[in-house]
Amino acid sequence: MFTIVNLARFQFGMTTVFHFFFVPLSVGMVFMVFLMEAIYVKTNDEKWKARTKFFGSIMLLSFAVGVVTGIIQEFQFGMNWSDYSRFVGDIFGAPLAVEALLAFFMESTFLGVWLFGWDRIGKKLHLAVIFLTWFGSTLSALWILAANSWMQNPVGYKVHGGRATLQNFGALLTNRQTILEFSHVVTAFFMVGGFVVAGIAAFQLLKKRDVDIFKPVVRLGLIVALIGSLGNFLAGDQSMLFVQQTQPMKFAAAEGITDTNGMKKGESAPWSLVAFFDEASHKEVFGVQVPYMLSILTFHQPTNKTPLKDIDQLNTYYENHFTEAFPEANPAAVKNIKNFVPPMNALFYTFRVMAGLSMLSILAAVLGLFWTRKKKPSLLETKWKLRVYGWLMYVPFLAITCGWLVTELGRYPWTVYGLFTVQESVSPNVSVASLLFSNIIYFLLFCLMGAVMIVYSVHVMRQPAQEAETSYASLDPFSKDAFDKELPKESAGEA
Ligand code: HEM
Repeated sequence: MFTIVNLARFQFGMTTVFHFFFVPLSVGMVFMVFLMEAIYVKTNDEKWKARTKFFGSIMLLSFAVGVVTGIIQEFQFGMNWSDYSRFVGDIFGAPLAVEALLAFFMESTFLGVWLFGWDRIGKKLHLAVIFLTWFGSTLSALWILAANSWMQNPVGYKVHGGRATLQNFGALLTNRQTILEFSHVVTAFFMVGGFVVAGIAAFQLLKKRDVDIFKPVVRLGLIVALIGSLGNFLAGDQSMLFVQQTQPMKFAAAEGITDTNGMKKGESAPWSLVAFFDEASHKEVFGVQVPYMLSILTFHQPTNKTPLKDIDQLNTYYENHFTEAFPEANPAAVKNIKNFVPPMNALFYTFRVMAGLSMLSILAAVLGLFWTRKKKPSLLETKWKLRVYGWLMYVPFLAITCGWLVTELGRYPWTVYGLFTVQESVSPNVSVASLLFSNIIYFLLFCLMGAVMIVYSVHVMRQPAQEAETSYASLDPFSKDAFDKELPKESAGEA
């Protein structure tokens, strides 16, 4: 259990999951803040300014924690995955450099101008700055997803002397995997932004804080959440079709295809609603199946357009033909692999939880919009509904975590699909002891950062929304009298 590979994988997974709480939160929130400020600029209504500043302060902390966890994420490559870094260095260098430039320079510069620019630059310019922050952070996500997509579906490369080199930079961006992954993830950002803003507003209404400020925000959040959820569903559906063609083992494990019943071309494949698999024999121990459904979900018709292979067929195929399909892979490394099957139960259930939460999100957003209609906005006045919509803000985070588990666990045994194995990737000089130590340190660090984020957000929520305005002004480090000026009572007390 405590092997070098397992511990290094656990550490990477833990860092990714934690980092990816803050990426969608930051990008989703910055879009919501942009929307609120756009309404303020259009209507000149000071309440929209207060809303912008209230949600802006939560957005700023999320950016800060996101950048710190992103740096830890990048450390992982050098620390635990040095052979992998050597293999992909020529491919990843360009996109990761662009990503870092965008994330660190563009986002941080614009965020700084936005934070200290209130009343110092024109309203429209200030609005343009927050728009550019959103645009820059979305672009930075594109590069990191292009790199990840290359690991799922390598394109435009050549392998020379044990290293992959990029032959066609454009291929990274036109990779269908990149387009699908980017669409699926960006729409998830909208879901996060929408549900978090609506959820925070719902909790504020439950506590009867600044009722006038928060009432309209619930509906605004739900509109964005609905658009995001629908787009995300469509992109997810297309992703699954693509996975079926490019990574059939990931598809078979996520759908629990363990026998050939109904899998031939023209037949109707049943879909497993629930099931349990014996990981050693790859057999289903029990399962509840819905006839026709797998064909409908996969091919959008009741019969299969192409045959679907079960897990054992694919395992034999991979064993015999993999190096033919990827002649540039290291044959010695592939030869050692007897089991190409990813963890079946984990993939099967993470996929179902993600897809189930997608349905829940669509339903919740539609119902929420109905319950916030002008005529009878019952959601804004009913305690249990406010509580439910408050807690719903955590749903997209759970779906995102499941999504990454499907994507990354399902690529087993590869780090770069077909080309480079997990076993080949790990650093030769790390030990179980050092990995255990760094795992514990990172775990504690993440708990601390998570706690800071929660405590700070609760603190912001307890303050009157208008308060955000005064604390910004007093925090301006460029103002001449920043050090002489007396802090407003509340901030001075905290210091
Ligand atoms: C019925 C709805 C959904 C379907 C069919 C679906 C499908 C998929 C598939 C097939 C993958 C793996 C792609 C790959 O390995 O290349 C994936 C990954 C992912 N999913 Fe979903 N998904 C759905 C809903 C959601 C929801 C609601 C969220 C979050 C709010 C989400 C977030 C993610 C993320 C972050 C990934 C990893 C990035 C990626 O590979 O695209 N998904 N999804």
